[in-house]
Amino acid sequence: MLLARIGPTLLFSPIAGVIADRWDRKKVMVFCDLARGALILTLPFVETVGRTIPILNPVVLLFIISAALEMLTLAWQPAKDATVPDMVDNPKHFTHAYSLLLIAAYATFPLSGVIFGLLAKFSEFLGNATGSAALGDNPELVAFILDSATFLVSAGLTLTLRMAPRPTKQEPLNLKATRQELVDGLRFLFSHQMIRPWVLGIGGTFAGIGTFMSMAPFFLSDVLGGGSGSFGLLVAAVGTGLGTGFLMAGPASQHFQKDIIFSSVVISMGVSMVIFGSVSTLTSALMFASLCGVFAGFAYPCGYALIQEKLGPNLRGRVSAAINSVVRLAIVGAAAVAPALVKIIDKASPGPVTVFDQSIDIRGIRVAMWIGGLLILLAGVVTTKAIGARRHQPRAGSGMFLVFEGGEGSGKTTQIELLRHYVTARGHKVVVTCEPGGTEIGRKIRELLLDPANKGMSDKAEALLYAADRAQHVEECIRPALEDGAIVICDRYIDSSIAYQGLVRGLGADQIRAISRWGTGGLFPDMVFLLDYEASLGLERAGAPDRIEQEGVEFHRRVREAYRLLAERHANRYLILDGSKSPQEVAAVVCKKVELMLAAREEAPAVGAPAEAELI
Ligand code: TYD
Repeated sequence: MLLARIGPTLLFSPIAGVIADRWDRKKVMVFCDLARGALILTLPFVETVGRTIPILNPVVLLFIISAALEMLTLAWQPAKDATVPDMVDNPKHFTHAYSLLLIAAYATFPLSGVIFGLLAKFSEFLGNATGSAALGDNPELVAFILDSATFLVSAGLTLTLRMAPRPTKQEPLNLKATRQELVDGLRFLFSHQMIRPWVLGIGGTFAGIGTFMSMAPFFLSDVLGGGSGSFGLLVAAVGTGLGTGFLMAGPASQHFQKDIIFSSVVISMGVSMVIFGSVSTLTSALMFASLCGVFAGFAYPCGYALIQEKLGPNLRGRVSAAINSVVRLAIVGAAAVAPALVKIIDKASPGPVTVFDQSIDIRGIRVAMWIGGLLILLAGVVTTKAIGARRHQPRAGSGMFLVFEGGEGSGKTTQIELLRHYVTARGHKVVVTCEPGGTEIGRKIRELLLDPANKGMSDKAEALLYAADRAQHVEECIRPALEDGAIVICDRYIDSSIAYQGLVRGLGADQIRAISRWGTGGLFPDMVFLLDYEASLGLERAGAPDRIEQEGVEFHRRVREAYRLLAERHANRYLILDGSKSPQEVAAVVCKKVELMLAAREEAPAVGAPAEAELI
């Protein structure tokens, strides 16, 4: 049965990925749900059919249905996984979303066990009461009908979901193109220097998990003498751990970087498994098994969120599918190899040895656990190294991107001039620019934006015009300058839009950030200098008011609050400057900070390049 479920994975999974990427994901999911519901409905009748039509052996039929169910799941799963980033705007919430998916998938297992039991009883009762032969013969019938109905409900729910329309070409699937896309997906996975270590990491981790799954029950019952009841205890211990990990991964990812959480929990899981394989009492074994569960529960949603976050929407399905294959292969491979390994080691085992006055029986199962644990540990190290390598990757050339933000008349222009002198005098190439209007096209957009005659401009049109100006600015001016190694000093950038349009106009910080992220290809500044200054005084300084300046002092007070909020939330890339101090005092603080950043850049090029800049 296991073979029937795993076999198709290897053949069908990559194709399923292409389907998820090329076809309307919603249709794929609805079709798979309906087909799975229908197949499940046939299960109770397999035996009857087999009895009446001799060539249809019930076992063979079960194999076929099982394989078909698996294939449908294989097509459904990448479509589902790839849809999450379309529905969750902010990558910060990906981990939460994947945790929820996993909780929905696994936490309901115990519940379904109970429901199945109850329904079987109910069905028996119905059979007796009505004298129905169908129910009497198949006590599972009602449970299967309910199960099938859940797929119908799922299909219905999926239909109501609002998803982003598919950006890919919609021409019919042709085999040659499929093969090419398949090759593209696999090549991407194994050649991309950022993704490859993650795939290796996931493979290693699941090989370890496969060893654990196949050997841990025997370890508890045979080596630690836990008897047959220990299997239930193990499931409970690991299950509780997993659940805890799933629940905690989302909140944790808000405070720590996902890649750091991922690699450290994978390493911790490896260590816990090695200890698990070394202990000699049932209680401590269960404790460490539970700990393995906690770490696995953390790692899964984080790893998933990480990979999805790094992928463009057109490759997500294929990469998810390829990862599914890697996971299944690793688990099945380990489950097949581990028992053989245990046998070989047991034959060669020297028997109990004494370490630190402790007698440890070197049994094959222990060695298998150690190897599994070490595999996971190694996987953790590979991914940690990948993080290190990525951190040291220069972002775009070796330039530096500095932005000045603040309300009207807060003194940005003066500070920018002072900083320009400072860095030019130290021999650096400098490009000073501004938004809106840093390019020829941008200047036309600026006229539209600031002309007091355009009173009727809608907030959204305004936000999009600022974003359009920025997209042009990055492509034409900022990115080439950075690639050329220049220090780019920009008067206003994305944070202006987040403060003015996102927070004060109320269009939403996440939405505005997402538009600018798209428009700029994810280029965020290395440092934002915020000139914080009383709004009414700034407006007095500003001179003849343009369309935005005409908004009144209350509007500009809220702009100031919005900036302060942003600076608090992103303290690592913001420096707040007191605009009421003398320009020289403020400039001294700015220059000192830039000096430090330049020194750090000399030591390690582009260390700490903002994560957003690395989105593919
Ligand atoms: P500008 O004269 O350049 O202002 P300042 O001299 O204060 O920098 O005009 C830019 C105006 O546009 C300013 O009022 C702020 C506003 N603005 C936004 O509302 N959103 C944005 O994304 C940007 C870049 C500017």
